[in-house]
Amino acid sequence: MSLILKRLQSTVAETVIKPTHKALSPAQQAYLERVIRVDQAGELGANLIYAGQYMALSHKPELKPILKHMWDQEIHHHNTFNNLQVEHRVRPSILTPIWKVGAFGMGLATGLLGKEGAMACTEAVETVIGGHYNQQLRVLSNNYGDVEEIETGKPSVSKQVTDLQAQISEFRDEELEHLNTAVQNDSHEARPYWLITETIKLTCKAAVWTAERV
Ligand SMILES: [Fe+2]
Ligand SMILES: [Fe+2]
Repeated sequence: MSLILKRLQSTVAETVIKPTHKALSPAQQAYLERVIRVDQAGELGANLIYAGQYMALSHKPELKPILKHMWDQEIHHHNTFNNLQVEHRVRPSILTPIWKVGAFGMGLATGLLGKEGAMACTEAVETVIGGHYNQQLRVLSNNYGDVEEIETGKPSVSKQVTDLQAQISEFRDEELEHLNTAVQNDSHEARPYWLITETIKLTCKAAVWTAERV
């Protein structure tokens, strides 16, 4: 019995990850939390936009695999940020119910405009989100290189930050892939194209600004 207990204890000890770096500064910590909060809300929104579009366009069999592929990727993005939120103990945006209803409604409404309307929505959303992720990557690579290593005292970037950067850049690439898919599937044929895309871009920017703060 005691042997089993010892083995269990040693397994637990092996799986606890030792911190390699000292704590982030309050400003670094606050920005990291802001990144996780807004990205979790954004990916939740993306997931629900596709849910709405998929429902509205379910009578178009040729479109379903295209939407499903992008939707599956959004579900993965959303799950990843859900896990990061738990891991870093970041509270979700308090406006989460509004993001859910708004995103599903946006997906449904643009899907009801037809394939081109849905694709114009994707083009607009991914244009904003691609830029948003690039901005976060810039801040993370410029402001997190001075955290002291516990063993050597040298400044460097901690693994939690490099992991987050890797995750964001992978997702940024997939969002830009969605943008290309939308353009290849006639997003520019939506009418009124300019009104739809500019309204959605403004809405996304306002949502990002708000979810970063509340
Ligand atoms: Fe995404
Ligand atoms: Fe996307």
